[in-house]
Parts: sequence; structure tokens; C-alpha cells
Amino acid sequence: MKRNIGTSLGLLVLLAGIALPGFSAAQEKSAAPTPPMGWNSWNHFAEKIDARTVRAQADAMVASGMREAGYLYVNVDDTWEGKRDDQGIIHPNGKFRDMKSLTDYVHSKGLKIGLYSSPGPKTCAGFEGTLGHEEQDAQTYAQWGFDYLKYDWCQPTGTPEQMKAAYSKMRDALAKTGRPIVLSLCQYGWGNVWEWGQSVGGNLWRTTGDIEDNYDSMAQIGFGQAGLEKYAGPGHWNDPDMLEVGNGGMNEDEYRTHFSLWSVLAAPLIAGNDLTKMTPYTLELLTNREVIAVDQDPLGRQGYPVVQEGPFEIWMKPLADGSIVAGLFNRGKAADKMTLYFAHIGLAGEATVRDLWVKRDLGSFPDKYSVYVPAHGVVLVKVKAK
Ligand code: GLA
Repeated sequence: MKRNIGTSLGLLVLLAGIALPGFSAAQEKSAAPTPPMGWNSWNHFAEKIDARTVRAQADAMVASGMREAGYLYVNVDDTWEGKRDDQGIIHPNGKFRDMKSLTDYVHSKGLKIGLYSSPGPKTCAGFEGTLGHEEQDAQTYAQWGFDYLKYDWCQPTGTPEQMKAAYSKMRDALAKTGRPIVLSLCQYGWGNVWEWGQSVGGNLWRTTGDIEDNYDSMAQIGFGQAGLEKYAGPGHWNDPDMLEVGNGGMNEDEYRTHFSLWSVLAAPLIAGNDLTKMTPYTLELLTNREVIAVDQDPLGRQGYPVVQEGPFEIWMKPLADGSIVAGLFNRGKAADKMTLYFAHIGLAGEATVRDLWVKRDLGSFPDKYSVYVPAHGVVLVKVKAK
């Protein structure tokens, strides 16, 4: 109910083309009506990122077909920051030099571009933070032409009140620039951020610590999102961290699980690999239109588990067209047969099943569907009542 009011208000503001004080329609809704999709430098390049590499990633996003598949943001993470000048204006360090020409370049490719900072004195990698320069930095980012800001807490502790104050301050500073800028909160899920992330202007908020490129880390984070589904919706998303697909630490079934789970979760799909060096398998995973459509479904519902039995988990995500996506996840170390009972996903009677990875209609089934699921793997199906 509350969201509906917000939505119509947002629409009104958009239509009228005016800004209400303390309410930025751009940030609240239109900036991220579906979970943001893009790429971020951290998981693969970390402190080695520089402007040339960012340009190459933008080139690859287009050349690989990822842009056509929906990836939009090219995000520069930590370690771009240089020093402040006498006026307090932040400058990039020698790896970046000219931010305006970088944003122009990325925009010329039909893409958008994101930047990173921290509300404290230092970023997580020890570079210059934004504390005391919120409005100035927001203006600088807008002048440079950035469209997205990941604002990373990077302090050993913090009360929810301190964090709310810091994030609201940046929300207001960004709103003042007049440029629509997606605000990505990163404070590792502390203080149940999902309960208040939206109220401080977050379009997405990290729900956990940093992901690592291995199955245990990915599975712990991904399956651990159960229960947070009620906090996500158009304009405001839970963020279980960026993708590791293609970075080499998981096998093909595990990466397929990673991408499927993030899509069922309506999680931001922010690739974290080197887009200039993708295997055909990595590219196929990242660009499967039918799976991306699950993530980007306009209903904006985050999926949730309906069966948890030993190593088996079945998650469902309702879609706008009335069908249900079900992920049959085998967390065990051996392939095994799993059965999806349609009753568990709220469907009575006969239903049709389509396998979204195999891209095939499997036909109509009276009340259940059984299939072998690889170790650490998934079968992702779309089920529609007949
Ligand atoms: C934190 C964040 C990461 C990344 C690094 C950069 O660890 O959680 O996603 O941004 O900082 O220093």
C-alpha cells in the first residue's frame, strides 16, 4: 500500500518534471525500476583498475553482446581517488586523470558509468573518502557525468543512526545535482539495512560481506538471502554482492547456480570478470536472455525458498505474466534426482514446464516434474498453469 502511494507520487513528479524537496523521483524509482545490470572493476581488477582498462571493458560490453542483453553500467570501484585541491575538490589519481573524457567515452557506447566513494575519511583501500565534502563530491561526480554511486561504509563500526545520517546526506547531495544517479549502499548488511535502505535513498543495498570466488562463499551468501524478499521491489533491491562468474574459482555448474540464484533473487547483475577475456561458456551464462528476464521481470518480486530438504533447495519467483520460475538447487556433492511438486509453488493441477538453460519446452505435467540436478548445480524452469 505504502509503495503504491510512493509509486504514483513518483510518477506524478516525473510527469510534472519537478522535484519535491526531500524526494527524488529519479533516485526513488526511475533510476532502478529493475535490478541494475552492469560490470564493476573490483572482483577481478581490484586496485589494478585504470582508465584504459575501463574503456576496454566498455568496448567488450558492446562487442560481446552484453549491452544488447541488458548490461548498462560500467562501474569504477575503489582506488581511482587522488587528492583534494585547495578548494577541497577531489581529483582522480594518475591511473585515471581525466574523468570527463572517460564518462564521455562510456556514454558514447550507449552505456552508463558508475563511481565509488565512502562516507568516512578513507575508502576501504585507504584512499580519500568523502567525509565533510558530501555536496562538493556529489557535484563533482555529476559534473564528470557519473550515473551511479557505490557508497561504501569502510569503517570498523557504526550505529544504524550514524549510517542512516551519512547515507541520507549523500542522497540529498545527489538529488541537489539534478542528475539521476543510482545510489548503491554498501555497509555489508549491518543494522538490518534492508529495513531502512530505501528510506535513506538506496536503490540497492549490500546485504552481506564481500563475496569470494568459490562455491561456499557464493552459496552461503545466495541461499542466505531467504527472508529478505519482502524488502525488495521496483526501485530498491537487496544486493548480495557482485558476480564472480568467469573469474575461475567455480566450475560450470557452480557458476550456473550463481547466475540462476542471483536472477531468482532479483539481485543486481553486476558482472565482476574481465569482459575482454571471456570463454564462450561465461558469455553464454551472462547473456542467457531467458534467465536475465527472470531477474529483470517487471513485477520485481525477489524469490524465496519453498523447499529446504537436506542438500536440496527449491526456490520460486512469481513473474508478471502469472507464471512461476522455480530453481531446483542441489547443494550436495553428488548429482541427484529432485522433484518439483507444483503444489509447492502454489499451482493446482496440470502445468507446462520450460527449461530456461536448455531453452526448451518440456511439455505438460499433471502435478510434478522430476529431473537430475548436477552436484552444486541447478535446473531452472518456468512453470505455467494450464
Ligand atoms: C569493500 C567492498 C567491496 C569493494 C572494496 C573496495 O570491501 O565491500 O565490494 O568495494 O571495499 O575497497
